[in-house]
Amino acid sequence: MTIPKVLGIFGHPVAHSLSPLMHNYAAKRLGLPFSYVAFDVEPDALKRAVESIRALGIVGVNVTVPHKERAAELVDELLGDAAFTGSVNTITNKNGKLVGTSTDGAGFLRALKSAGINPARKKVLMIGAGGSACSIGLSLLRAGVGELVVANRSEEGGKKMIGLLSRFGEISFVPSASPKAPEHAASADIIVQTTPVGMKASDPLPLAGIKFRKGQAVYDIIYAPERTKLLKLAEKQGAITMNGLSMLVYQGSESFKTWTGKAFPGKEVLGYLKRLLREKSNGKN
Ligand code: ATR
Repeated sequence: MTIPKVLGIFGHPVAHSLSPLMHNYAAKRLGLPFSYVAFDVEPDALKRAVESIRALGIVGVNVTVPHKERAAELVDELLGDAAFTGSVNTITNKNGKLVGTSTDGAGFLRALKSAGINPARKKVLMIGAGGSACSIGLSLLRAGVGELVVANRSEEGGKKMIGLLSRFGEISFVPSASPKAPEHAASADIIVQTTPVGMKASDPLPLAGIKFRKGQAVYDIIYAPERTKLLKLAEKQGAITMNGLSMLVYQGSESFKTWTGKAFPGKEVLGYLKRLLREKSNGKN
């Protein structure tokens, strides 16, 4: 019997994650002996969970909400974007050495470009300033955005992000509660929503009073539900809307390549996930 090589994801909550379906589909499709498991890891258990990667010989894991920043402190080495942002979404076990990287920024940029949107010289309003936001912000600044404004609930989170990224380009902070925040949204070419607000049906809009205009691009990194309250409103007001499914696939593609050395069948995986989500939402109706 072949012992499967284990991959996984650490998150809390994690039950909604499509990563296990996505990576297991790709491994099967390519005939690779990998098995990808979702681990619901409570925040106070993250240290032990990371140590278990070594103990159990797990090949690699993705890290998601709310662990991306803490995970960066627990690995042995940070490489690439993760070394600048202190946010990790991929841990790779290299013969017992745990290497943390982030594929979020590269995944987001590929997702945006695959929708025909080039952020160069554009004004971007980013909602949220957590680990995902830092990785996405770095990729946007490197792609030559004209102006990046970060709207965040806490001043502490917003200022921390500015401190990390200001050397890469023009970036400023506005508190989400300030009346200036929806004004920035109205004048932005691209709005990127990176908080978990919208995952629950009862959630409010992630930015109170936000209004959209025709032709504006709105990207919500949430993919479950398929259309958040924010995306529904943006679409109604004439914006071009995208959910986080494409970013999920592209960031997953980069992680998969790191762990297995093989190219990820991205288009096929995206088609598979879209079919799954459609069937799920039809089942509900
Ligand atoms: P990730 O690393 O996956 O991006 P995170 O680090 O937990 O997740 O970041 C979550 C982001 O969503 C932060 O910007 C957080 O705002 P604060 O800095 O004020 O904590 C934001 N966020 C989380 N829950 C929120 C809520 N209920 N309302 C508004 N913003 C929220």
